[in-house]
Amino acid sequence: MVSLDQLVEDAKRDFAKAADSAALEDAKAQYLGKTGMLTERLKALGKLSPDERKSAGAEINLAKTAVEDALQERRQALAEGVLYSRLAAEAIDVSLPGRGQEVGSLHPVMRTWERVETIFHSIGFDVAQGPEIETDWFNFSALNSPENHPARSMQDTFYVDCNDAQGKPLLLRTHTSPMQVRYASEHVKKYANAAVMPPIKVIAPGRTYRVDSDATHSPMFHQVEGLWIGEQVSFADLKGVYTNFLRTFFETDALQVRFRPSYFPFTEPSAEIDMAFSSGKLAGRWLEISGAGQVHPKVLRNMGIDAERYTGFAFGSGLERLTMLRYGIDDLRLFFENDLRFLAQFSA
Ligand code: DAH
Repeated sequence: MVSLDQLVEDAKRDFAKAADSAALEDAKAQYLGKTGMLTERLKALGKLSPDERKSAGAEINLAKTAVEDALQERRQALAEGVLYSRLAAEAIDVSLPGRGQEVGSLHPVMRTWERVETIFHSIGFDVAQGPEIETDWFNFSALNSPENHPARSMQDTFYVDCNDAQGKPLLLRTHTSPMQVRYASEHVKKYANAAVMPPIKVIAPGRTYRVDSDATHSPMFHQVEGLWIGEQVSFADLKGVYTNFLRTFFETDALQVRFRPSYFPFTEPSAEIDMAFSSGKLAGRWLEISGAGQVHPKVLRNMGIDAERYTGFAFGSGLERLTMLRYGIDDLRLFFENDLRFLAQFSA
C-alpha cells in the first residue's frame, strides 16, 4: 500500500494533469469519491484498535485536507484560465480609431432663413408661411398685375395641370409677394370688429419658382417677403428697418444702403435696394439685394384695407443673395449641387 504522502503527491499530479473541470472531477473521484482511495482508508479504520484508530485517523484526515486543498487550488486555476481565455478572446483594441458619426448641418440658405426670422422677430414681426402652389389671383392679379400686363412676362413660371375656382390654372408662385395679400386679408378679417386695426408686421420666407436657369438663376430659389402696414408707416420706416436689418444680418455697420427708383406693379413708389460694404473683398461695389416700395393703394384695397387711412411698405429679398454675400460664395449653383465638401463648411 502506498504511503499517505505518496497518495497526496499522486493526487496533486493527477489534478495538475486535468485540463478542464470535468477531468478534474474525475480525478477527484479517485481519491475522495465513494470508493476513492482516501475514502477506502477511512473505512478501513474500523478494523483497527481504538488507539491505532486515533493516530491513523488523524494522519488520514491530514492527507485528506491536503488533497482537498490541492483540489480547490486546481479548481480555481482552471476557472481563472477560462476567464483569461475569454477575456483574451473578447478583448477590444482601444487604440483602433472609432467609426465616428457624421453629423448633419443646416444648408447655408436655411441658416440665412433662420437668421432673417430671428432678426425680424426681434423687432416685432410675425413670421408666416404660405403655399408654394398659388392661384393667379394671389400671385398676380391681387398684386396689381392684371392679365396681359407686361410685368407678368418678367415672371414666367410653371403651371400645374389643375384649375382654381376661377378656372385659371394653378401655378408655382414666382415670388413670396402673394403672402402679402393672404396674410393681410386674414388680418383684416380677424380685426373686423376691433375699434382700431393693429398694424400688420410680417415676414414670409419661402421657396419660389421661375422658368430661369443659368449661373445666376435657379428655377427654384428662396425669398423673404416683408410687410408693415399701419397708420403713417412711411418710406422712412422702410429705410430704417431695412438698413438696420442689413447691419444686423452682416454684423457690421460698415455698409452703405441706397434706394434706387424702380418699378413693381404692387408698389408705388418702388425701389431696388442696393448695398455696398465699406471694407473687405467686395468693398465699394454696389450689389442689388432687394425690391421694395410703398404698398400700392390698389393692393391695399385688394387686402380689404382703407387706403386713405393706412399706408405701408413691402420688400422682397433673395435668401440666396444674402447667403452669398455673407459667406463670400460666388456661384449660385453650389447651393443646389449638394456637394458635401461645400456643405460641410457650414457645419458649425
Ligand atoms: N416680388 C418681387 C420679385 O420677386 C420683389 C419685390 C419687390 C417684393 C418689391 C416686394 C416689393 O415686396 O415691394 O421680383
